[in-house]
Amino acid sequence: MFAELDTPSVLLDLDRVERNVRRMAALRDRLGVRLRPHIKTHKIPELARLQVAEGAAGITVAKVGEAEVMAAAGIADILIAYPVVGRHKLRRLMAVAQQARVSVALDSPAAAGDLSDLGEALKQGIPIYLELDTGFHRVGVSPRDALDAARALQRLPGLELVGLASYGGHVHGVGDTAAVDSIIAAEVQLLLETRDALHRAGMPVEEISIGGTVTTSRAAVRPELLAGVTEIRPGTYIFNDLNTVAEGACREEDCAATLLATVVSRPAPDRAVIDAGSKSLSSDSSPRIAGRGRVAGSGQVVEWITEEHGMLRLDPADPLAVGDRVAVIPIHICAMMNLHDRAYGVRGGQVVETFAVAGRGRVQ
Ligand SMILES: Cc1ncc(COP(=O)(O)O)c(C=O)c1O
Repeated sequence: MFAELDTPSVLLDLDRVERNVRRMAALRDRLGVRLRPHIKTHKIPELARLQVAEGAAGITVAKVGEAEVMAAAGIADILIAYPVVGRHKLRRLMAVAQQARVSVALDSPAAAGDLSDLGEALKQGIPIYLELDTGFHRVGVSPRDALDAARALQRLPGLELVGLASYGGHVHGVGDTAAVDSIIAAEVQLLLETRDALHRAGMPVEEISIGGTVTTSRAAVRPELLAGVTEIRPGTYIFNDLNTVAEGACREEDCAATLLATVVSRPAPDRAVIDAGSKSLSSDSSPRIAGRGRVAGSGQVVEWITEEHGMLRLDPADPLAVGDRVAVIPIHICAMMNLHDRAYGVRGGQVVETFAVAGRGRVQ
């Protein structure tokens, strides 16, 4: 399998990538929202351009470093869905803001002070989304404090408060679609109530921006869940992984990214060892998924890993031998992509393209 490639190597099934991208673009049309995919999943400029060509209005990133890479590749509209705090980042953001429209999601006036200086220096209002904590308890102002936070943000020069954002990460691991749907409904309701309160206070914010792949997959079944939302920011959907399969957001046939690995040992009848461990598959695991990855097609489980070894549990009758190759679907593709300099686009069993994972490691 793909004898021209050394292992471990990331394989991207381009037919599946394109199908996933087009399916999300079609959902965007059905929902009548703006699509702003989170590129932390792939970190590849060509794929960001594909998403834009297929109808995304712009992209979402987490880091200034990712924004730098994507702006340099010609992406014209970038939301940094992460508070940008500290002078080091601000200097770099200034350069990005001269190449692309940059907006930022943050949750406090304290996190906006440096950006306010930047907006003033650029003589343009930087669009700001106020991030609400709708139950995930990561960043996000509590909805009851949102009005005060919005008022304080409005007083800062160089900023333009355009909307509200949230990330409902607490849909993960719930496992029951009715419970997931009520989490999404509550998230959207909090956002809309807060928007209305801001309107009554004379703040005409219009954007309501939410993530991610699980949330949007539910909207494909029940579009009314996202009534009032103006923007969706799914990321993982472009590749999918064992997590999104376990969440019911896709099927295994929708997983577009795998790690090509070589069997380097068959030390016991029920065990083979591949040359992929935590440094190439990532250490991410899930309480709901057995092992650390699954061989595409065969269902063999990477039962446990060390840094450079992956231990496959096998039926003793399985003929898998030293030198054979397998393609492993990871638990969490976004973490895996960040470990690789290159990814190989494949079609019909052939390698057709090499991508630089240009945003990989851009964690500052
Ligand atoms: C702020 C934000 N928006 C959007 C996303 C995309 O979500 P997903 O990867 O579930 O598609 C994420 C993912 O972590 C996120 O943190």
